[in-house]
Amino acid sequence: MKSKEQIFIIKNQKDTETFGIKLGRLAVPGTVIALAGDLGTGKTTLTKAIAKGLGISDIITSPTFNIVKEYDSGRLPLYHFDVYRIGDIDEMHELGYEEYFYGTGICVIEWADIIEELIPEDAVRINIEYGTEEGERIYKCIF
Ligand SMILES: Nc1ncnc2c1ncn2[C@@H]1O[C@H](COP(=O)(O)OP(=O)(O)O)[C@@H](O)[C@H]1O
Ligand SMILES: [Mg+2]
Repeated sequence: MKSKEQIFIIKNQKDTETFGIKLGRLAVPGTVIALAGDLGTGKTTLTKAIAKGLGISDIITSPTFNIVKEYDSGRLPLYHFDVYRIGDIDEMHELGYEEYFYGTGICVIEWADIIEELIPEDAVRINIEYGTEEGERIYKCIF
């Protein structure tokens, strides 16, 4: 059974990094992390920290033009998706998303809400909102 929503108040970018590193360290094979939140809320920043927690040494750049980028230098493979520019859900089928989402690596998906119907039931959910202070973010999570 899924746990209920947990709210984290992230005060600054350092908090995002600490949170992401922890998540990366704790991630087990097959973890799918679905990120939702407006532009600039820090989805890519969080992904970079998750990668760091997985022990990935490569520089993480946004996969905006290829939907998914793969990183193999860590404890587990990381598949970083950014589906913001997806034209049609068929593009996910064409790239064989099931191999990734139901595989043994770690998937992090930016703009996961766009492909909501494809997100596995047991995915970790992180909805990010801007807080009231500069640098503040509100994470609403289901683990
Ligand atoms: N608490 C925070 N967490 C993440 N990024 C933050 C935070 N506070 C400020 N920022 C800044 O916000 C921007 C987030 O950008 P990015 O990670 O690319 O967002 P997204 O991928 O959601 O569009 C960066 O310029 C980062 O420095
Ligand atoms: Mg991004």
